[in-house]
Amino acid sequence: MMMNADPELSLFPEDCRLFEDSFSAENTYRVSGQNITIHQYYCANLGVSASVWDSALHLCQFFEKESLDLSGKRIIELGAGTGLVGIVAARLGAQVTITDLSLALAQIESNVECNTPLSGWPSVAPAVLPLSWGRDHDSFSSSWEFVLGADIVYMPETFPLLLDTLAHLSKDGAVVLLASPMRREHGAQDFYNTVLPQMFKVELVQRDPESNINIYKATLR
Ligand SMILES: C[S@@+](CC[C@H](N)C(=O)[O-])C[C@H]1O[C@@H](n2cnc3c(N)ncnc32)[C@H](O)[C@@H]1O
Repeated sequence: MMMNADPELSLFPEDCRLFEDSFSAENTYRVSGQNITIHQYYCANLGVSASVWDSALHLCQFFEKESLDLSGKRIIELGAGTGLVGIVAARLGAQVTITDLSLALAQIESNVECNTPLSGWPSVAPAVLPLSWGRDHDSFSSSWEFVLGADIVYMPETFPLLLDTLAHLSKDGAVVLLASPMRREHGAQDFYNTVLPQMFKVELVQRDPESNINIYKATLR
């Protein structure tokens, strides 16, 4: 990014698009053997949902590293943001429901659309639905094989809501896989060491010290 020479002015990027209400960026990621093109719509409303966070890439790479067979599996993703994780799972043959707050759904729908394989989705096209933790999970089934979330543990005030939603969704035996940067200031340690174990058996299945991103597997007790 070009910066101004004057140090005071250099606080402000010259890229004027950053001051517009919205602009989009397109990136292609190679994950789990899939090329996925993600449009990120940066605008005031989308906030943290606009970005692909590193945890999402770590979770997709985990599928490959662990040779997880997702084909035909029923999977729900929480707090999907751009939809990358759910889209990768659907491209690997899973039946995926991608969820987030309503404001993020148009971005996810657009990404699902532009990642439709030429030959069609191997199983079914991902469903994209609103799910606000702790509020409307009752309208979702409990029969999933995997519940996925990348970088969704960052607001302590939402931890009890997230716990309720995870418990509802995994009643029938789902494996919960959560990838998180272990940011102390966001209470991630507390969530995994104290909050989640209230209802779940929790196991650290991957740690990357360089990025400080952990992946946890949890199953309802
Ligand atoms: C840091 S972003 C991560 C996005 C994406 N999973 C990724 O890793 O690239 C956190 C996501 O959680 C969603 N989120 C935050 N609070 C939520 C809530 N109460 N219910 C549902 N989703 C929520 C946000 O809308 C956002 O998309």
